[in-house]
Amino acid sequence: MKAAVRYCSDSGKTALVAEAIAKGLGTEAVATNSDNFTIDEKIDILFVGAAVHNNDIKTSMKSFIYHMSLDNVANAVTFSTSCFIPRALFILKKHLFRKGVVIEKSYNVWHFPFCKPTRGALKKAEKFARKYIENKEKEKNDVFI
Ligand SMILES: Cc1cc2nc3c(=O)[nH]c(=O)nc-3n(C[C@H](O)[C@H](O)[C@H](O)COP(=O)(O)O)c2cc1C
Repeated sequence: MKAAVRYCSDSGKTALVAEAIAKGLGTEAVATNSDNFTIDEKIDILFVGAAVHNNDIKTSMKSFIYHMSLDNVANAVTFSTSCFIPRALFILKKHLFRKGVVIEKSYNVWHFPFCKPTRGALKKAEKFARKYIENKEKEKNDVFI
């Protein structure tokens, strides 16, 4: 089962969650404003993370979504960080839906204003990703008679 993590982050909060998720998946977290953000191989599940800034997600994330190839990515899990309403998850859903990507699950990490996600929250995010991929592996290996 191949998974990839792409995220955009301004103050580093979503980056911390992206790294925790990537750790749980056994892969690396790549920022959409870095050099190597494109996905050139077929992956089973893409974890996409963003947060809201001035009522929208960053342009680099939107650009990534609209330029990625559906031949390589068909299913996604979205994640976000927020103090209140996880609006980024709705925005990600809108763009991924337009692109034709199916969102299997969404995950938000809440944090207090001006604070980073807690260590406990990051551990939970890591565990969420690990469990998610384990279940997917199990589903794939289940034999139906
Ligand atoms: C400059 C700035 C603008 C923000 N604008 C919004 C906003 O419009 N709506 C909202 O719900 N949260 C807003 N937030 C809160 C962020 O979405 C939240 O803190 C998030 O965790 C930031 O993650 P990131 O810095 O890793 O991208 C804003 C934060 C900053 C620093």
